[in-house]
Amino acid sequence: LIENALGFLATDERHPLTGRPKDVDTFGQLRERLGDDPSRPSYHVTPPANWLNDPNGLIHWNGRYHLFYQYNPAGPFHNTIHWGHAVSDDLVHWEDRPVALTPSPDGPDRDGCWSGCAVDNDGVPTVLYTGGRDKRQLPCIATAADDDLTTWDKDADNPIIEELPTEPEVLRTEDWEGEFRDHCVWREDGTWYQLIGAGIEGGGGAALLYESSDLRDWEYQGPILAGDRDTAGTVWECPELLDFGDRQLLHISNYEDVVYFLGTYDDGEFDVDRRDKLDHGDFYAPQSMWTDDGRILTWGWLPEARDVSGQWDAGWSGAMSLPRELSLADDGGLCQRPAPELTELRGENTGYDVVRLDPGDTEQLPVESRSFELRATVRLEDAEAVELSVLESPDGEERTPIRYSYESEIAVDRSASSIDPQATGDTQSMRVQPYDAPLSLRVFVDGSVVEVFANERHCLTSRVYPTREDATGISLSADGGRATIASLDIWELDSVW
Ligand code: FRU
Repeated sequence: LIENALGFLATDERHPLTGRPKDVDTFGQLRERLGDDPSRPSYHVTPPANWLNDPNGLIHWNGRYHLFYQYNPAGPFHNTIHWGHAVSDDLVHWEDRPVALTPSPDGPDRDGCWSGCAVDNDGVPTVLYTGGRDKRQLPCIATAADDDLTTWDKDADNPIIEELPTEPEVLRTEDWEGEFRDHCVWREDGTWYQLIGAGIEGGGGAALLYESSDLRDWEYQGPILAGDRDTAGTVWECPELLDFGDRQLLHISNYEDVVYFLGTYDDGEFDVDRRDKLDHGDFYAPQSMWTDDGRILTWGWLPEARDVSGQWDAGWSGAMSLPRELSLADDGGLCQRPAPELTELRGENTGYDVVRLDPGDTEQLPVESRSFELRATVRLEDAEAVELSVLESPDGEERTPIRYSYESEIAVDRSASSIDPQATGDTQSMRVQPYDAPLSLRVFVDGSVVEVFANERHCLTSRVYPTREDATGISLSADGGRATIASLDIWELDSVW
């Protein structure tokens, strides 16, 4: 609590609400203070201290990449949300910038500046975001006052949409006059389009389409897709439409999961032919950025998997996923791989051409780390499963096994990840391709993050909180038969700050 109170004061000293100048050094001090926390990721973007949720307003502007995020400077809990801001020259190393958007005491965003996106409006960087006030969610707009995107001018006419659509009727809840928020904006043939996430009375979540000629005056068109509440949730947050040329992808976050729909979007309607989860673990509300060379990079919020008191004790909450490059495979399926830029972070390497595992064998790898990338090709041969255990103490009291089984499943078992009762202990899993082909695996371990990429298709991110200083071991074992691990590499990864 004391740590956190200090964090609060340090932020508040320079906080825009106090009228004093903003100063990025404060963030440096906050980061330093939290630097000894072994659960704190070093190569995933984190808030300087306090609370972070969704990525927002991703844009490449004036030669730099900007990542804004939902941020509460007052503490590690979700309240009075601002837009935090980090910038990068290379998509790998990041620098804290001052808070970009602050709730206006008299504005429609008084209770929070919620999620939104950034667009280039003929040379004017512009963000659309959701303002919260009392029980209302109100779309707002702001334009950058400088090329570093440090200062933003909110439109005097905010909110830009005041009336909720009635066809279909937007869901009312005890908390909200209408579940209606988050923005995905693009331009096509001179017309602006916008999706807003919503819930529908008597139905499920929906992505509602609007049209505009000037980003300010919006005309409602109807849902491009509406979900079935039993399978896709009652409310869709943070919808995003991504164009892969012939095919399109829409993803939404439904309080539990990030569900993506692949198919074709045309003239206000989305025709779905595939559907899956973007990640099967602790990953939410992603947003994407186009790079200059035409790639789509997606970041998601990695929420904590420890209770509120654990987050208060830590003084910070939330991290960003690694940037993931999304593309379509020849068979039309979705590929997700870590942005190739991330290889920049690789330091010391430990490599093997091949490791053969007999049934019951455990191979302890000679690396001790809580901040590494592991890449391997796994063949089960006649084993029932291969277990890669990370963050393992020598006596095995704390360990996080990542188990790949012949049932074509990868499971991250958190039951022994931490002896801290504040930490979640359930198992998270996903299906991968059939077991008779080798599995290509990339695992990123970073403080309390375990981010798994399988076959550059499926992702599972888990948050874990080992307490023991010596929970840094890595081992491999095979169950019920032999297995082969080929081209196994482990790299220490540097910090991105
Ligand atoms: C998703 C979300 C958004 C909202 C924001 C508030 O995590 O609930 O729908 O805009 O976070 O912080």
